[in-house]
Amino acid sequence: MELARFDPAPCGFPRPGIPPLPHRLEWTTAWDGLARIFHAFQQTKSPHFRHFSRGRYALGEAYRLAGLSPGSTLLAPAYHCMTMLDSALHLGADISFYPLTTDLSPDIGRLEAVFQASQKPVRALLATHFFGFAKDLSNLQTWCDENDIVLIEDCSHVLFTPFFQAPGTGVYGKFVVASPYKFFPCEDGGLLYAPESRDLDGVETTPTGVGDELRGVKHAIEHSWTSQRIPGGNRDRPKRIDEKLAALATAPMITGHETINRYAQTSPYFSASACRTASLKVSQLIVKLTPVAALTAARQANYRRWSMAVGDLPHCRALFSVLPENTTPYMFPLLIAHPEPHFYWLKQLGFPVWRWDEMAVSSCAVAAKYRARLLHLPCHQSLSDAQMDWMVAVLSRTLRQSPAGSHP
Ligand SMILES: Cc1ncc(COP(=O)(O)O)c(C=O)c1O
Repeated sequence: MELARFDPAPCGFPRPGIPPLPHRLEWTTAWDGLARIFHAFQQTKSPHFRHFSRGRYALGEAYRLAGLSPGSTLLAPAYHCMTMLDSALHLGADISFYPLTTDLSPDIGRLEAVFQASQKPVRALLATHFFGFAKDLSNLQTWCDENDIVLIEDCSHVLFTPFFQAPGTGVYGKFVVASPYKFFPCEDGGLLYAPESRDLDGVETTPTGVGDELRGVKHAIEHSWTSQRIPGGNRDRPKRIDEKLAALATAPMITGHETINRYAQTSPYFSASACRTASLKVSQLIVKLTPVAALTAARQANYRRWSMAVGDLPHCRALFSVLPENTTPYMFPLLIAHPEPHFYWLKQLGFPVWRWDEMAVSSCAVAAKYRARLLHLPCHQSLSDAQMDWMVAVLSRTLRQSPAGSHP
């Protein structure tokens, strides 16, 4: 496997001033909180779920149960982050990448060729509902059944908990994996779900200790108190952003290193010793106590704010400009035309942007293009109006700058 990697070290990007994931506990009133706690303790453990510390470890268990081993292959989406692959590499399996269409749906027409080219038997296929948008995976499910391949549904970008499953998700895979910490203000959380509970027979996780739980409580409280600061403070913001942009546009641009290397080991984001660790009880409680309707409404409002803001911006387009009524978005995916300089400038301005610039090389042109160009913008429920205002101002002002203004 070859890995294309972007190393930002030479750029010296500052730490973003706004958290990309939710961090604030959502209590409406004390009574509401008490009622939720009472309700939470009435809910019993479901035999369909196992709780891991991260989705990547839940994925690892799904891969193992599907039969992945050094003698077999995983089919994974060509657009991915390394944590989707780590557990398969840890099991010693080969990985082949199937192409995606421009809306990040599996390209079923070209899947067969990848399957046929695989040197070892394909045991599992990972299919992702990217950015919270439920995909119709029924054709893929039929194809997997016909070829005796275990379909693993990746709901890591989807609001998926033991108490709420986003419509149209968790209905195709023999195993389903989710990452609650991406939607809830908790330190950890990775879910493995099986529609047939007997498929999880014998899957046990190791509970965390009291010290870890106390740290989880401290984390939740501290992060909840994280001030809703705006980078650079409140002083004349648009003017300061313009000044900084003008300075960036006239200075020589220090670019990161792009490399392509052979790759067979797990990434630094994976720890073999954490594979069986259960998520913190306090994280599971936070998931139970958080009002899902309010979380969805806040994320939808922020997502729509982004859609409006980028509608007439040059050099970019929303990957999914329309948000279906029942979708809880994970992030706002934005395609930009000129990562150099726009991505660099956003990072230099402390804008909280993610992109998957570390990715296995494949024949998929969409993945190759999106690796540098698809930005993931936060739209979570803990963002304040002022933080959204600042991010919209920074993005708009940056993308309105001519890319020719940079000095590579
Ligand atoms: C689509 C997708 N699947 C799986 C994972 C792994 O999830 P986790 O971070 O919970 O390990 C990620 C991580 O970001 C992801 O983006």
